[in-house]
Formats: sequence, structure tokens, C-alpha cells
Amino acid sequence: MRDIMAPESARWRAFTQVFADVVEPAGYELVIPPVMEDLGVFTRIGEATDVVTKEMYDFVDKGDRHVALRPEQTASVCRAFAQHRPVVPWKAWYSGPNFRYERPQRGRYRQFDQVGVEVIGVDDPYLDVEVIALGWEFYRRLGLERVSLLVNSLGEPDDRAAYMQALEAHFESAGDALSDQSRATMRKNPLRVLDSQRREDQPIIASAPTIDQFWSTAAAEHFETVRAGLTSLGIPFTVEMKLVRGLDYYRRTIFEYQGATLDSAQNALGGGGRYDGLVEDLGGPATPGVGFALGVDRTLLACDDEGVFPAPSTDVEVFVIDTTGGSAALALTTELRAAGVSADRAFENRSMKAQMKAANRSGARFAVIVGSDEDDAGTASLRPLRGDGEQVAVGRDSLIRELQQRLQEDP
Ligand code: HAM
Repeated sequence: MRDIMAPESARWRAFTQVFADVVEPAGYELVIPPVMEDLGVFTRIGEATDVVTKEMYDFVDKGDRHVALRPEQTASVCRAFAQHRPVVPWKAWYSGPNFRYERPQRGRYRQFDQVGVEVIGVDDPYLDVEVIALGWEFYRRLGLERVSLLVNSLGEPDDRAAYMQALEAHFESAGDALSDQSRATMRKNPLRVLDSQRREDQPIIASAPTIDQFWSTAAAEHFETVRAGLTSLGIPFTVEMKLVRGLDYYRRTIFEYQGATLDSAQNALGGGGRYDGLVEDLGGPATPGVGFALGVDRTLLACDDEGVFPAPSTDVEVFVIDTTGGSAALALTTELRAAGVSADRAFENRSMKAQMKAANRSGARFAVIVGSDEDDAGTASLRPLRGDGEQVAVGRDSLIRELQQRLQEDP
């Protein structure tokens, strides 16, 4: 687990702001679920998934409750829906940390952040399109260009069950040719074998039956409308029949946004899909749902690799130097901040030279200097710290106005 230090921390905050700027105008409201919940909320993600069986941070608390740090937020949002019953469609967005006990490496951490949306209560393929398009638009706003969108449909639960049976029979017939790991996976969830990267499994995966042969008419039509909607918005996508995703709650539409620069195991920048049975599993009424979550850590690595979305500056605009003892700096920084000008100062009544050094290090655009001469004359010296502007004396009562004007003239 890592510390996110400045300037990277400023980038994280800006990231969430860009996300809010994309989803809030589309009617999504912020929900903040707790970081820790009853274990049972998360076991609904799928008893056959690594996320639940191997990676959960769960423990018994002092009140004998079996709880877990959330490994994702979709289950929490569905639990919140079942509990509070907001008006449908409930369009929610979230951001925050999740915890999975995985082997840490570049793009894979035990504490990682996601931003995401969930819409609960509507079973309309145009909503799937809206959700997918919002994620796409977000990547565009960040400036990322090398993101590809993969889509698939897992069909209705019956279609999916029939497909799983057919897959199991196919993998079973491969006998020893299938890797031991995949044979073990097959017994728990044959869909997950399609994710295997092992070389010996590839020909067997390539000849496996595909999900489209099992789609019911309703599932096929739903997916057809999703694809037509994406096409009408000019969003490029690839139908990837082998896309299955790592969580068990999905039905019908699933999708993933993939980056081009991370290792293949970490190249999913985000993903989502429909989970029409999850609210019911969590004790609510039968209610459809669709959403996605995007990994903040991974998406920012992709931004680094593409050279986009740099950290915004957190430098102050003005640095106050006071060699008269410090009270002039106290008054001036207070006045400047109240007027909306960001300002910092030196402490401990250091020498002029030491304070000037601190001013230059601060990244401020102007130094405001108060020495005994300025103090006697009721002025302050204004010195540009960048470019070759001259230092000028300004009356204390017109200082703020003068600074605001200069900051505006040359942002
Ligand atoms: P997920 O595919 O498990 O889906 O995670 C979504 C994204 O979170 C991944 O694409 C990845 O960018 C990031 N992520 C996952 N695990 C890690 C990790 N250990 N380190 C860094 N980043 C990671 C979900 O979580 C679903 N809740 C998505 C969803 C929402 N489906 C419907 N609604």
C-alpha cells in the first residue's frame, strides 16, 4: 500500500474532478459507501472468484461480526439501494479505495482507487450505451488516445448456464492437453478458463464454443441495440466473445476499456456490465443494474505513458518576505488569501537571503517584500520571480489590487 505524495496527489484530486464533470451533468449523484461492510455483501460478487476466495481482507471485529474491506463498490452500491430504496432509475457515481490481497506489481496494488457509476432500476440497452459512452468520454477528457473498448454479452442466466456446460464439456474433452491450473479453474468456473494466458491452453480456447451460439433472442436483441447505439455515437469497439470479466454477477452486456501500454495482465483500465440479479441477491427487489469502475492507479499510469494529464500546479502565486519580525507577513498573507490570492511566507525571521531562496523555491510568481524601509514608508516591494520584470514599490493599500491585476494580465 502506497502513499500518494504531491504533486501526484494533486493529480488524483483533479482526476476525480474531471470524472465528476463528466457524470454529474448526465444526472449521476455522488454516493459514499463505507469502506468496510458485512462480509456477506461481498460474497455475492461470486463464490467462485479469486476476488472473494483469495483476495479479500476479512476479519472478525470486536463485536464478533465477520467484516471485510471492500474489494469493489458495486456490491456496496446495490446493498445501499436495497437499504434506502432511492427513486429509480438511481444514477450514482463514486470514487475511493478498494482492497484486494493480490501480488503487487506495476498497475496492481493491494489498495487501489476506482471511480465508477452504477444505474439501478432500468433494463434498457440505451442505458448500457449511455454508461459505456460516459467512460469513453472520460478517457477522452483525460487526453488518452490509446484506449480500446471490448464488448460482449454473457446472455441471460439460462444462456450463460448452457454455455458454461458446453465449455466444460469442451475443456473436459481436451483431457491432459489443458494445463493443470485451467483444469482446476474449469471445475469452479469454466468461463474463467477463457482468460488463461498459458500457451498450452490457447489452441483449446481457440476451438471452444462461443457465447453467441447460446444467446436467447432477447439477449441477442439487447446486445444488437447496444452495438448499434455505440456505432451511432461514433465510439469504436470490438466484440470480443472471449471477454468474461473476473466477477460472477454479470448478465448480458459486459465491457472493458483496455490500455495499450501496461503488461497484458494489467491492461484493463476499467470495466463493467449488467448485474441484473445482484440487488435481489442482496435482499432487495428484483432490480436491473448496469455500471462500470475505472482503476485510478492504472489509468494514471496510462496517462504517464501517453504523456497526457500532467499534475496541476499547486504552487502559490505570491510569497511574502518580511524582515521586520514576521507580523507584516502575517497580516499580508491573511489579506491576500482572503482576496483569493494564494500566498505563503517564510517563518523564523530568517535573513533576507534565506527568505528569498524560499520564495524562489516556492514556485510563486511574485515576491512581496517588507523590510524596515518599506515598513516606514507604508509600502511593500513587488518583485516578479519569473521573467525580467523590475521590482517596484507599491502602497500597502493598493498592493492587493496591483497583484490581482498583474496575476490576471499574465496568467
Ligand atoms: P474490476 O474489473 O474488478 O471491476 O475492476 C475495475 C478496474 O479496477 C480494473 O479494470 C482495474 O483498472 C482496477 N483494478 C482492479 N484491481 C486492481 C488492483 N489490484 N490494482 C489496481 N487496479 C485495480 C469491478 O470492480 C466492478 N465493480 C466494475 C463494475 C461496476 N461492474 C459493474 N459496475
